[in-house]
Parts: sequence; C-alpha cells; structure tokens
Amino acid sequence: MENKLNGIPVNIDSLDDVTQEQFQAFAKLMAYYRCAMMEIETKLNVLNVEYSLRFERNPISSIKTRLKTPMSIREKLVRRGYDVTVENIEAVLNDVAGVRVICSFPKDVETIAKALLKQDDVQLLERKDYILSPKENGYRSLHLIVAVPIYLAHEKRIMRVEIQLRTIAMDFWASLEHQLRYKKDVDFTDEMAKELKFCAELSAELDRRMDTLRDQVQQ
Ligand code: GTP
Ligand code: MG
Repeated sequence: MENKLNGIPVNIDSLDDVTQEQFQAFAKLMAYYRCAMMEIETKLNVLNVEYSLRFERNPISSIKTRLKTPMSIREKLVRRGYDVTVENIEAVLNDVAGVRVICSFPKDVETIAKALLKQDDVQLLERKDYILSPKENGYRSLHLIVAVPIYLAHEKRIMRVEIQLRTIAMDFWASLEHQLRYKKDVDFTDEMAKELKFCAELSAELDRRMDTLRDQVQQ
C-alpha cells in the first residue's frame, strides 16, 4: 500500500510497529536527503551550463536522482546487523540519497568530479574508482560519497549523498547487466558472465575511441 507524505512515497506495509513519532522523524529525514540531492543536482546543472558556454557542448548527458525505499533501507540495516531506527539510517547508510551523473565522454567524468569536489561546501568522504579499476564483472563507474550542507530555517544539516558518475557507454552496460542479473528464475552461468565481461571491455574500448575523437575535434 502506498501513501504520500510530503510527496515522499512511504510503504505503510513495512511500518506496522512504528509509532507516529518515529514515522514523522523518518519522513523528516527523508525530506532532508531529498534536499541534499537537490543541492548536488543544482551544483551539477550549474557546472553543465558553465562548460557548455565554454566548450559549446554538454559534458553531462543526464542526471538521475533516487531516494532509497523504506523496504530497501530496512533490508540493508538488518543485513548489516543494525536495529532499524531513524538514528541508524543516518549513522550507517551512505546511499539513502543517490545521484547518478551520465557524462558524454570519460574525460567529462574526471572534469565534473574534480569541479564538484573543489567546491568548499562539498566534502569527500569516500571515493571508489571503478573506472581506473573495474570490478571483476566488468562494471565501471566513479563512486563518490560526499557530505553536503542543507540550510533549513533554523539549522544547518550535513547530509551524505552517493554520487555515481559514468559515461553513456558505462551506463548502457550497467543497466543491461542489472536487468540480466536480477532476472528471476534464471541461472546466471559462467558463460553468461564471461560474455557480459567481454561486452564491458567493448564498451571501455568504445569510450577510449570516443575520447580520442573528442580530443581531435576540440583541438
Ligand atoms: P552496496 O551499496 O551495499 O551495494 O555496497 P557498496 O557500498 O560497497 O557498493 P559500491 O560502492 O561498490 O556500489 C554501490 C552501487 O553501485 C550499487 O548500489 C549499484 O547501484 C552500483 N553497482 C555496483 N556494482 C555494480 C555492478 O556490478 N553492476 C551494476 N549494474 N551496478 C553496480
Ligand atoms: Mg553503497
């Protein structure tokens, strides 16, 4: 059953033994995460406008934001051995607020990440560079966990946001891999995994060639 509180979809079924007070605290925290995503998204949009003025093209192809669902928040806390409390959500989870930045070229990923992290109200907490070192299955993306302030009427709150930066080719591969891997009732064979990894290498080669072309065009 879905209910909307402050525009935030809340799964009532998963909240049977939750008091009104806890429910309000949860909704408030989710609203803060949503604000933090908006802050990051705005920063990225500003960078995109500036670069498009300077270079006459957009380094950012698209931005997607997502708030972790209550079910998924609960599942992750339980899996990691924590009680499901509003305090633990904020203390333990880094990816309640997620921003995915799809860039045109690999160099744009670097440029945008660097420009964002240079801003004095963005603090880098963790960086995982799966572009420099792809995961065993072939997955590539740059993951940043950042802390960013949101300004409310009477307080300033520092919120954590997970940012995934990738190229269109990396996103294409990751989206299809996700669809295939989570297909119900199908055994994912070693053969399939090998083929997927080969596709990841093809997409990396495509990115390299496109980056070279971009260099030639921009000179
Ligand atoms: P979890 O957040 O619990 O998954 O662990 P972690 O914090 O160590 O994760 P990591 O930073 O490696 O990845 C976090 C997110 O990146 C995931 O939730 C996915 O959105 C994405 N991701 C990571 N690995 C893969 C992958 O192999 N395939 C796809 N499609 N996405 C991935
Ligand atoms: Mg994570």
